[in-house]
Amino acid sequence: MQPKLTAKALCADKEVGKISKVIVDPLSHEISHVIVREMNGQGVERQVPIGQVQEVVSEEEIVLRCSREEFGRFPVLERDQYVTVKEVEIAHLEDHLHVEPGEILVPLPRLEQGVPRRTFFTNMTHAIGTLIALPLAFPVLKYLMKPMFKPYDNAWFSVGNVKKVSKENIGFQFKFTRGFKEAFMPEQQIEKNIWVVKATPAVQKAVYEGNDRKFFDDKGEVIWVNKANSPYIGYSGKCPHLGCGYKWRKTKNFPEGVFLCPCHLSIYDEAGKVIDGPAPRPLDVLPMQVDAGGEVKIIDVEYKAGVNKQIRLL
Ligand code: FES
Repeated sequence: MQPKLTAKALCADKEVGKISKVIVDPLSHEISHVIVREMNGQGVERQVPIGQVQEVVSEEEIVLRCSREEFGRFPVLERDQYVTVKEVEIAHLEDHLHVEPGEILVPLPRLEQGVPRRTFFTNMTHAIGTLIALPLAFPVLKYLMKPMFKPYDNAWFSVGNVKKVSKENIGFQFKFTRGFKEAFMPEQQIEKNIWVVKATPAVQKAVYEGNDRKFFDDKGEVIWVNKANSPYIGYSGKCPHLGCGYKWRKTKNFPEGVFLCPCHLSIYDEAGKVIDGPAPRPLDVLPMQVDAGGEVKIIDVEYKAGVNKQIRLL
């Protein structure tokens, strides 16, 4: 049984407050802390480690392993150190936790930390990657082998109008649906997304380094060229680390915003360059054009995740 986010929290039979939020480890999807707002719903929110929850009496009530005095010594929640799972995408997290809809927080990465954190995430990622890889091996192999049997799909998809991207150097997400067909299976509609940035000359230079970007079909023929001075740049919605969805997010250290991937906390700037985290390469720039009416069109190219070079899969 899991408590509701409004459940009462008791210490030594005395109510000390109500659960207002939970903090989740973005890697394990386990709850690491419950946040208890002190009495009357007006007080401060205290961060209680999950190990201090002695008993879940019912969905409406939990008992903490502390006295009222000790409860007052739990740290106050520093809200700006966390993002909600509405702001970053963690697939099926709420299904997994079985919590009532409400505020579920994940910690923001500590950008100021350097090598030790990077090493930690690299090791953690490898361990988790191995576990995840086992049940996924068959579909992944099929996916990897697909290009051997099927030419790339170089069709153009309309994703929306560029008028929506009003500010420079801010990520804007376009969602679109495309059909996908496996052999012997009916076609499925898959929801996808890309991020578009209206780029200043500095960002254009950071992305293209002054050179037009060519895209190729499976025979090595050029199918499209993104001009180095294109005012709009589109990035694949998949994180190049392991393929999670990421979001544009303002942080304390980057008040203008960065692309933040919640799965292993890779961070990219508006030019798609890796600022922090385990991502092995920048965000993948897509072949993109904007027609006379402002319609954004892309070729939905996909590259292999987890490697430092772009290897086209679809
Ligand atoms: S999938 Fe690992 S950081 Fe994005």
